Amino acid sequence: MSQLFSPITLRDMTVSNRLVVAPMCQYLSEDGNANDWHLMHLGQLSMGAGGVIFTEATHVSPEGRITPKCLGLWSDDNERTLKRVIDFCKAHGVAKMGIQLAHAGRKASVNPPLKGSAPIAAADGGWQTLGPSEVGYGDWPTPRALDDDGLATVKAQFVTATERSARIGFDIAQLHAAHGYLMHQFLSPLSNVRNDRYGGSIEGRMQFPLEVFEACRAVWPENKPLGVRVSATDWVEGGLTVDEVVEFAKALKAKGCDFIDVSSGGNHPGQKIALGPGYQVPFAERIRNEVGIPVMAVGLITEPRQAESIVASGKADFIAIARGAMDNPRWAWHAARALGVDTEYPPQYVRCRPDTWRAAPAVMIAPTAAE
Ligand SMILES: Cc1cc2nc3c(=O)[nH]c(=O)nc-3n(C[C@H](O)[C@H](O)[C@H](O)COP(=O)(O)O)c2cc1C
Repeated sequence: MSQLFSPITLRDMTVSNRLVVAPMCQYLSEDGNANDWHLMHLGQLSMGAGGVIFTEATHVSPEGRITPKCLGLWSDDNERTLKRVIDFCKAHGVAKMGIQLAHAGRKASVNPPLKGSAPIAAADGGWQTLGPSEVGYGDWPTPRALDDDGLATVKAQFVTATERSARIGFDIAQLHAAHGYLMHQFLSPLSNVRNDRYGGSIEGRMQFPLEVFEACRAVWPENKPLGVRVSATDWVEGGLTVDEVVEFAKALKAKGCDFIDVSSGGNHPGQKIALGPGYQVPFAERIRNEVGIPVMAVGLITEPRQAESIVASGKADFIAIARGAMDNPRWAWHAARALGVDTEYPPQYVRCRPDTWRAAPAVMIAPTAAE
């Protein structure tokens, strides 16, 4: 009996396995719109890579984008173009479709990685970034600290994007509070030095992310799961700690959060990450055990048996895979085969299952129902 390929239910969403494709920015949008690349990229992943496929970070406002080429969901055009992609995935894929909603805060207005990831000068189209405090990321430009009106605007942008996600028909959603982006910036004492009710102790620093979560939960369909991706630590002395993230996760759970996707780092250029196979799994395990909430483990989980043992030993409920799924969009099929279990194929692809190849010559195999 595989635990990795056993079903799990969050609210009314049941998936047949615990594999998740983690969000992965593609940096190929114009004005935040999805296009044929997204159709191909998410379309192929939806057929074979796991139980849930998350979109890349999908930004709630133009100024909240990491780069000018990032995906967004602030306009009717954004909604229409992304719906086309998700309609395809739901019609032909076997996975549930999830969206990651994001605001990059002080880490916005940079070039895509292929162009060096550095801040864009104003003369080249760079824009004023926003943050909890006037503290830049390393030597990057200083953000404008959000005042009460600014906080209300960002919260409303998350709410509108959540409503758009519901209309598109996503099955599950997560808010991005990891990797040094806006909500992580609020959580971390390295980026949040406010002295109002949104700063200070972790109770203050988590206040804005909690308000955003609560407002999004109120408009997200009651029967669908909503979770949060966190960075469990800043990997920097004096930064956000796992103890504090456990407190945040407890408060999220009390507000109806259905899962925590546990990543780490991204909020300080001086971070010292202890990289290794499954290096973030212990954080997921702590949050799962201390908070009693389903967790996704992510980061250098590359082998089916490694994934199986993380779930079977109770360290995580889901296994999220990013680079491995780009390398092999059929990761889930191959993992199932390696673990000796059956998994779902789209009808058109059933005949590629190797166990059927020797049963009869390919031309004589009975057509599937879909033909
Ligand atoms: C190309 C690429 C783009 C990424 N974009 C995002 C993103 O949009 N949102 C996010 O939370 N993480 C993003 N990540 C991080 C992944 O979701 C994941 O946490 C990380 O790659 C570790 O998992 P892995 O070892 O399976 O690749 C990205 C990673 C890659 C490689």
